[in-house]
Amino acid sequence: MNRRDFIKSFLSLVTLSLIAKTSFSSFTPSKAENQPFNLKIPDKNKWLNSRDQNSNYFGFLALGDMGTGWPTEYELVKLMALNSPQYFPSIILLGDIIYPSAKANLIEPNFIKPFTPLIEKGHRFYPILGNHDDHELKGKYIKEYFDIPDYYTFSSGSAQFWALNSNDLNAQQMNWFNLSAQKSKAKWKIVLVHHSPYCSGSVHKNNNHIIKTLCPSLKKYNFDLCLSGHNHLYERIGIVPEAGNCRFIVSGGGSAWLHKFEEKVYFDRQAINSCNHYLRISGNQNQMILEAINLQGKVFDQAVLRKA
Ligand SMILES: [Fe+2]
Repeated sequence: MNRRDFIKSFLSLVTLSLIAKTSFSSFTPSKAENQPFNLKIPDKNKWLNSRDQNSNYFGFLALGDMGTGWPTEYELVKLMALNSPQYFPSIILLGDIIYPSAKANLIEPNFIKPFTPLIEKGHRFYPILGNHDDHELKGKYIKEYFDIPDYYTFSSGSAQFWALNSNDLNAQQMNWFNLSAQKSKAKWKIVLVHHSPYCSGSVHKNNNHIIKTLCPSLKKYNFDLCLSGHNHLYERIGIVPEAGNCRFIVSGGGSAWLHKFEEKVYFDRQAINSCNHYLRISGNQNQMILEAINLQGKVFDQAVLRKA
């Protein structure tokens, strides 16, 4: 099926009411009528706040800081598309989805075009807002395109995810997060934030505001994993006292220029690599397998988390 046929058949499946609710009127009208601006995420948001009760299995791919439109973004997506949507149905976008800022007319060249192989295969996208996305009207066009609220939760198998907006972890958002985490019965709890609480990258380093605001909740509600971006590198971090048993992975190597590392580290740094990469994570109720994959398609770091 070519691109034009795909768009045509996809649009025929979308109800008129959905189109009316989410049409991207902010795009230049003449172009939006004829060009792939009309390409929307397949089945977008039907999965938000719903849980697949049939299986404990979950699988997803993740990357951060990808929205450059550069060749590395295309190459990485090509590698990601080798993974079957059957086993890795979800794609988590860890922010900075559009560089240099998420203007309406940059969504096509910096996201839709590079991500077409994954969009066409029917993966589901779960974005969070990065600082570059927030620059443009607080992520208005990103939120409209993906049809997402500022922050949200979703579940897959035995895992529940909280997609936060770390540009503004205000009291309202944190109250919602705490209440939602408190009542969760998920076996695995995973939080997604663009700004890394911990990082030994030489550009952004630790973010004390995020640590102070978020980590007590991660400890209190027994979170297992925190994924972030913002730092253009890969870093896997072990347990830090103020976050309980939560582990941290910084994955901001989605295509933007790479960052270096600080030599001195004040936390349990378990693996680092300044490279373009994506994450492949899968699990069931007993274990979660974390893999980091570079531009050569090689798994350069792997870890397993287990539960009794
Ligand atoms: Fe960022």
